[in-house]
Amino acid sequence: MEVVIGDGSHLATVGADAVEQALAARPDAVIGLATGGSPVPVYDELDRRVRTGRLSLREARGFCLDEYVGLPAGHPQRYRAVVERDFVAKVDIDPGNVHAPDGLADDLPAACAAYEQQIRDAGGVDVQILGIGADGHIGFNEPGSSLGSRTRIKTLTRRTREDNARFFDGDVDQVPVHCLTQGIGTILDARHLVLLATGAEKAQAVQWMLEGPVTAMCPASALQLHPHVTVVIDEAAAAGLRLAGYYRDTLAHKPEWQGW
Ligand code: F6R
Repeated sequence: MEVVIGDGSHLATVGADAVEQALAARPDAVIGLATGGSPVPVYDELDRRVRTGRLSLREARGFCLDEYVGLPAGHPQRYRAVVERDFVAKVDIDPGNVHAPDGLADDLPAACAAYEQQIRDAGGVDVQILGIGADGHIGFNEPGSSLGSRTRIKTLTRRTREDNARFFDGDVDQVPVHCLTQGIGTILDARHLVLLATGAEKAQAVQWMLEGPVTAMCPASALQLHPHVTVVIDEAAAAGLRLAGYYRDTLAHKPEWQGW
């Protein structure tokens, strides 16, 4: 795993560079899309690069990580709607090429299986953008999630619903209890994982993820099993890391040819 302890510019550019690399290899690259606050600087940087003509996502495809169950069509906090606002509207991707699990399906297990098949049919995810929850969740795989899990229904923890209440007028009761989420096994199938985290409230989860044991109690720790992971964090999120000095040295001596 490569750990970048950086400033605001790293938080925007490393993820955008990874997407740009994937698009250079294949213009129809498949991008895995997280929602929430963490990926927004990456999406804004992609917007900037598209506007300056540096890259195009015209042929790219996108798959959302997760979706709330039961939020009505047109609800501004459906993740499909959030991704449309935060990402699709900013870049030149074809909205028809961006997919999300169907949190309104009558048959949720069938919708999850269909989503897995859609990802497989697309050839898998090239770059998966991720955030991390304060409890160590990735996607909405809460602590206790099987490390081999696939897209399925999950129950959100009270902590996650409280954290996300800021998007629902501060009212935790408006935050759905259930979601559909790509599983940890699904996420680990992506070819390159880029995880972003900022702020002191993420420091404990970041320490567990990078330096703790691989355990279902911290779903993000499963990233230790993946051969190509880039973790981009700010100083506050890095505060608990024992090997912070080593990560900084490694970045300072990163070979120029290496890319992300
Ligand atoms: C959202 C998702 C979640 C978030 C995590 C962090 O699609 O998969 O795992 O990435 O809850 O959220 P923020 O970035 O808002 O702190």
